[in-house]
Amino acid sequence: MPEKLNIEFNRETLDLVNKIIKRYPEGRQKSALLPVLHIAQAENHGWLSSETMEYVASLLDIQPIEVFEVASFYSMFNLQPVGNCVIEVCQTGPCMLKGSEEILAHFENRLGIKAGETTADGKFTIKTVECLAACGNAPVIQVGTEYHENLTTQKADDLLEKWQAENKTSHTNPYL
Ligand code: FES
Repeated sequence: MPEKLNIEFNRETLDLVNKIIKRYPEGRQKSALLPVLHIAQAENHGWLSSETMEYVASLLDIQPIEVFEVASFYSMFNLQPVGNCVIEVCQTGPCMLKGSEEILAHFENRLGIKAGETTADGKFTIKTVECLAACGNAPVIQVGTEYHENLTTQKADDLLEKWQAENKTSHTNPYL
């Protein structure tokens, strides 16, 4: 086990992580890296700090740089603090042809921030991402484990109103 760090998982999460690690052959525990990173990010308010990545490395008995290489490659992992609800707006070709730039601009105007920024109250972050693999229903956004497709500015307004009311978080552990 690693030295005491303030990002250690609780017993329930550790059991879950160990169950995932056991899916893979002995010595191949690195294969569990992606699911463990998703869990770590959800537990750490939606982002992966250096300490969190070091902790994940210690759980999988690999080097921190191996964790960083993967975490920095995929857009679903955040290496800086984010708001409680991260709105990921697809900006790849099919979504752009169907109006994703207008959707992005609408979220930016409504929230008073640009893509890559977080609202002052810490509630929302907007991110642009590449293809979310739902092109047939473009334009698409992702919020945590939810997809919202065939977006219009009216639908975006309805979602924002709902998320404001329920204090929406996108940082949920997808494996619980
Ligand atoms: Fe947006 Fe594929 S281009 S989901």
